[in-house]
Amino acid sequence: MANLTQRAGKARPALAKRAPHDKGGFTLSGFYCSLLLLLAATLLATLVAVDVTLGGEPSGNGRSGNDKWLEPARSELMDASGALPFFPHRANTTGNLVLNVQDFDDARVCGACHVEIYRQWRTSMMSQAWDEPIYRALLKMASEATDGKVDNFCTGCHSPIGLTTGQITSQVNRSSVEDSARNHPMPGVDCESCHNISARTGLDNGAYVMSPRAHGKSTKFGPRKDAVSPYHDTVYSALHTRSDFCATCHNVTHPFSSVAVERTYDEWLESPYSLNDETCQDCHMPGFAGKAASMGPERERVASHWFSGANATVLGHLGQHEAAQRARDMLASAAEINFQALPADMLPGQYATVALKVANVGAGHKLPTGFPEGREIWIDFQVRDATGRELYRLGAVKDGKTEEDTRNFKVHLGDKDGNELDIEVWNATQILSDNRILPKGYIVREFSFQVPADAVGPLTLTAHLNYWPFSQKLVDYLLGKDQLQVEITRMTSVSQRVPLATNLTTATRGAR
Ligand code: HEC
Ligand code: HEC
Ligand code: HEC
Ligand code: HEC
Ligand code: HEC
Repeated sequence: MANLTQRAGKARPALAKRAPHDKGGFTLSGFYCSLLLLLAATLLATLVAVDVTLGGEPSGNGRSGNDKWLEPARSELMDASGALPFFPHRANTTGNLVLNVQDFDDARVCGACHVEIYRQWRTSMMSQAWDEPIYRALLKMASEATDGKVDNFCTGCHSPIGLTTGQITSQVNRSSVEDSARNHPMPGVDCESCHNISARTGLDNGAYVMSPRAHGKSTKFGPRKDAVSPYHDTVYSALHTRSDFCATCHNVTHPFSSVAVERTYDEWLESPYSLNDETCQDCHMPGFAGKAASMGPERERVASHWFSGANATVLGHLGQHEAAQRARDMLASAAEINFQALPADMLPGQYATVALKVANVGAGHKLPTGFPEGREIWIDFQVRDATGRELYRLGAVKDGKTEEDTRNFKVHLGDKDGNELDIEVWNATQILSDNRILPKGYIVREFSFQVPADAVGPLTLTAHLNYWPFSQKLVDYLLGKDQLQVEITRMTSVSQRVPLATNLTTATRGAR
């Protein structure tokens, strides 16, 4: 309860930031604003009522005796009045009804007119959010381990149309990618998923409202006030121009233990980027000059739909090599690494200490952000002497994982006994640690090593900053060995030569 009111309080006022795409035209935003307020008020009233009648006690709701999940479950309190038709996911529809499959087109239909936008989106991870192998492998495990209790939850973000049209069952969730593609083809996060969203009722767990036929015929919500289409109604939606649109899916809260599993939106909200009104769209949908639709007007800036992120591994695996390269470019633009106060020289036989500063200069959220079991950035630090002999290394990959003590940046989830969780995120009840780098922030990490007495100067110190979306070990566990090769993406590197001191008096002590 306190949690929710706080959250609502944090919501940004509507920003009129972007040069508003042209004016005039027909808008329903006032109507939807009131609808949103009404929904929020109902939700709050419900919560107050629940708090009084139940005194915050869990009501069972089919999960009694299961001590894996902490009490009280925020999502169950919120659902007490049936407010969550797709419990425990927070998706709503107009009238809270299951939607009609016929109300939605395949993305290829949209692509007939929205040619360039379709081409871009098709290469993105979001277009594959249902079909990609890592998701499906973990989904199957999660569904089986929880007797299907998390089924709706996962599906509502990875295939919003699949969920809200009631097509996805536990059986579909547990089938193989190949089988479901043949027998139950389902879209990932497609055109219809995003452009039928009329409002949101919260800032996480898919709290979007899907309204496919807002006034009797097919309606698309978008960023323009002057868009006219022969195929569908268009409605201006300020929400689509703001980061809180993305928040519905890019903030993931554990539905039963309330652990903040993913917080990309909150990370952005608390950063200088939100103060400067630099949105998710500014970086992930930067825009191109051309046409949004083949029969529409030429425009100076049409929102691009590449949605480039960081997942070069899975994009490469899916054959999207250009998109994989765009992900590498995004990663390269995100960080800088530099030596801090490097000693002027080092003494053979003695210990030396060097410090490296890693700065998040380009990501509007923590570095890394997102999927917590996997996303990891680390320093691979190496020292060689003039003969090329490796004197020291920390940050190698061993047994499919970064070696012990690696200077990395990662979040670690834990279960109720404090054990770290790599896979069973559904058992997460706490965050054990989180040393990821804040937006526009930096972290300094140290390395100490002994220079062998017979080292030949000068020494070359090299630090690579690496990223992977998940360890090879995790992928081998999920998919089996040799199914998918994880790419270690080199974000940036720095290298420096340091001479060896010839005797103690000329040696400067390792500066800090
Ligand atoms: C027969 C052609 C055609 C088809 C098919 C089509 N659209 Fe459009 N759509 C247009 C045109 C034309 C515009 C106006 C473009 C402009 O003004 O730049 C438009 C505009 C839009 C907008 C912008 C609305 C706004 O107010 O900002 C969205 C969103 C949109 N379409 C989504 C879709 C989706 C989703 C589909 C598939 C279900 C689809 N369209 C199918 C022709 C089409
Ligand atoms: C993840 C959500 C998402 C998906 C998926 C998505 N869009 Fe969009 N789309 C947006 C947002 C958000 C904007 C507004 C961006 C802005 O104003 O910066 C937008 C803008 C548009 C526009 C208006 C562009 C302009 O600047 O005039 C059209 C047309 C459109 N989308 C069509 C599509 C079509 C067709 C697809 C599928 C091929 C699609 N979208 C997939 C979120 C999405
Ligand atoms: C309906 C839910 C939904 C909405 C709304 C949504 N996303 Fe996503 N997004 C996802 C899911 C699910 C994935 C992960 C797909 C996968 O890897 O299986 C994803 C992945 C991404 C990625 C790729 C990450 C990578 O690792 O490469 C980017 C970038 C992204 N989203 C940006 C956005 C932006 C920007 C918005 C708002 C304009 C947005 N998303 C709105 C569900 C959503
Ligand atoms: C200032 C530019 C900027 C802004 C603002 C921004 N991002 Fe990013 N984003 C990046 C860069 C650069 C990367 C690649 C480096 C990384 O993974 O963080 C990235 C990566 C991502 C990824 C992939 C992370 C991973 O490792 O799987 C997702 C998902 C994402 N962004 C979503 C969002 C969402 C949602 C918002 C708004 C709440 C947002 N971004 C705001 C620049 C930005
Ligand atoms: C509130 C929305 C939401 C819910 C609910 C959700 N996810 Fe996701 N999921 C995302 C987003 C957004 C990303 C992408 C984040 C990033 O790129 O780091 C993602 C990424 C993933 C990935 C990484 C995929 C890849 O290829 O990198 C897996 C696996 C995954 N989710 C599985 C699940 C499972 C299993 C569930 C249910 C227990 C679930 N998700 C529930 C939004 C959601």
